[in-house]
Amino acid sequence: MQGDLERVLFDEPTILRRLDEIAAQISIDYRGRELTVIAVLNGSLMFMADLLRRIPLALKLDCLSVASYHGQAQTSGEVIFKQVAPPDVKDRHVLILDDILDSGHTLAAIREKLETARPHSIRICVLLSKKKRRARGVDADYLGFEIEDEFVVGYGLDYDERYRNLPWIGVLPKELITSSK
Ligand code: IMP
Ligand code: MG
Repeated sequence: MQGDLERVLFDEPTILRRLDEIAAQISIDYRGRELTVIAVLNGSLMFMADLLRRIPLALKLDCLSVASYHGQAQTSGEVIFKQVAPPDVKDRHVLILDDILDSGHTLAAIREKLETARPHSIRICVLLSKKKRRARGVDADYLGFEIEDEFVVGYGLDYDERYRNLPWIGVLPKELITSSK
């Protein structure tokens, strides 16, 4: 599995050091506020677990599950919510956690859905953001690392539901993505 990677971008100590910094900033920014973290499954699982253990605030946690990829390496642009009702975030300060900001379709759709529940504020925290022009105008308020426009896996990120359990983040070669389809 790890032999499939073209190269490693971020190893575990590098990821965790960056999470220390983001967690410290979030802890300062939300001190004394009613914070609700909404984690986007499955990609943010590792990120969520490691980040939240570094934030010593009395926060609430909820998860959302969406699909937009359907097992491919290109977004379909259509975001399907697996829950019918949005989480109850009325008057709460909401922090959305996701693994990666790519086209922006997913996070834009999630933000719109949560806005209907009338939260006090909404911010976005992503581990990775691809340097590219986005289809939807969405930016991260908290960002782990900016990366080139390449397909990456590991530390929660998948290709066709594989590689999520790799402890580091790496680039999957283009041949591997196309040849297995
Ligand atoms: P967007 O809607 O195009 O911004 O895509 C966001 C979602 O697509 C993320 O939550 C990931 O699940 C998935 N995704 C985008 N780029 C990658 C990647 O390079 N590797 C793995 N998953 C990705
Ligand atoms: Mg995914």
